[in-house]
Amino acid sequence: MAKPKVAFFCQHCGYESPKWLGKCPSCGQWNSFAEEIVSPVHPISSSPHKAATPVSLQLIYTAEENRIVMPDEELNRALGGGLVPGSLVLLAGEPGIGKSTLLLQTALQLPQLQVLYITGEESEQQIRMRADRLGLTHPAFYLLAETDMQAIMKVVHQLKPDLIFVDSIQTMVSPMLGSPAGSVGQIRECAAIWQAYAKTSQTPVILVGHITKDGLIAGPKVLEHIVDTVLQFEGDRQYVYRLLRTVKNRFGASFELGVYEMADRGLQPVSQPSALFLHQKEEVFSGSAVAATLEGTRPLLVEVQALVTPSLYGTPQRTVSGFDLRRLQLLLAVLEKRGGFHLHTQDVFLNIVGGLHIEDPALDLAVVAALLSSFEDITISPSSCFAGEIGLSGEIRAISRPAQRIAEAARLGFQRIYLSRYNQDIPPHPEIEVMLMGKVEELYQQLFQP
Ligand code: TYD
Ligand code: MG
Repeated sequence: MAKPKVAFFCQHCGYESPKWLGKCPSCGQWNSFAEEIVSPVHPISSSPHKAATPVSLQLIYTAEENRIVMPDEELNRALGGGLVPGSLVLLAGEPGIGKSTLLLQTALQLPQLQVLYITGEESEQQIRMRADRLGLTHPAFYLLAETDMQAIMKVVHQLKPDLIFVDSIQTMVSPMLGSPAGSVGQIRECAAIWQAYAKTSQTPVILVGHITKDGLIAGPKVLEHIVDTVLQFEGDRQYVYRLLRTVKNRFGASFELGVYEMADRGLQPVSQPSALFLHQKEEVFSGSAVAATLEGTRPLLVEVQALVTPSLYGTPQRTVSGFDLRRLQLLLAVLEKRGGFHLHTQDVFLNIVGGLHIEDPALDLAVVAALLSSFEDITISPSSCFAGEIGLSGEIRAISRPAQRIAEAARLGFQRIYLSRYNQDIPPHPEIEVMLMGKVEELYQQLFQP
């Protein structure tokens, strides 16, 4: 077959070149050229031969009701309630985090569907060994160890599977392009083939994508635009839990969160994750406070630990784990200026237990409580928790969905929750005392000068 015409395009500004260039002569960007197929452009005439037909909105059949329900609730939650037919999903994550395991165990637990698992990374034997380890079998599970897209599409058109998993998109190659597997041009071309197949056949396709060290989905984010849903699989390899975050979803809410535990026999869904992130202990120490956070629509209680000690050197140290360093510096500046606490002479270490990274601004209040508790060396009652954002003038600002946070705290046996006074419509709860605070000073008085 004749090769189509290809050219190289700058991914930054769109500059076209017949050969690869290290630096774009147009915008000056380095390493931005990717190979693409150039199809001949037909001028749009005013009397087209092939007429396109518009469709009435009411007559369009939606795939929404026919979602394929996944075997575990965490995956369903991340997908927004199941897999939509014809959707293209990207499962992104660092190597070794458990992407292949998640896909394999999902496939093997859908016995009513014919599943095609395409692997460019592992051999058939390796997958078989993993399936044995998971202790699962499947009557119509097909494995294809292949990376050539032309050969793969031939099999796909013959088999017509109900569900396709591709592990990984970085190993797939289209023979139409001369560039190697994993290059931007190849990733984009292969993803486009899968997208076209998914849409025309209404078959859902899940692609595995590796994340580079700097946290990007390899292939400068090109994939994110092409796919319908991006699920990010993350977690610290030192810990057993894994988080499945919805980064983008055309068919549901983004910022959803699924939680798993990596066990001997695959990933176990964790339906009540708060217990994972609350430190179990008999003794209560100063510098510890529990935050009632929310990830997507899911409430999550996590412990914040702070250590504030006099600094031995001129410049005090600020070290964080699981929290934004600049946010900590801002909170310290607010405490210094509005609360009059002399924290500029102190080293500050802050840790979110479990290595979890949470972006909810409601974490602020627990961070401030933990900092002050360590600074004063006075413990906070382990049955109290916090949810509030801190403003620059030291005010405690309202947070989203207080009722959900209160309910989760009550469910876990907390007896008191500190919230912002500016949160309106907080329903009284029979099991938990709700304390409303307006300013950081008030919180300080409540906690440490009763
Ligand atoms: P894997 O799915 O191969 O990761 P990825 O595809 O994202 O690169 O998972 C690799 C890790 O998971 C590996 O270190 C072994 C571990 N693992 C378990 O702990 N339990 C299991 O049952 C399985 C299958 C893997
Ligand atoms: Mg893998």
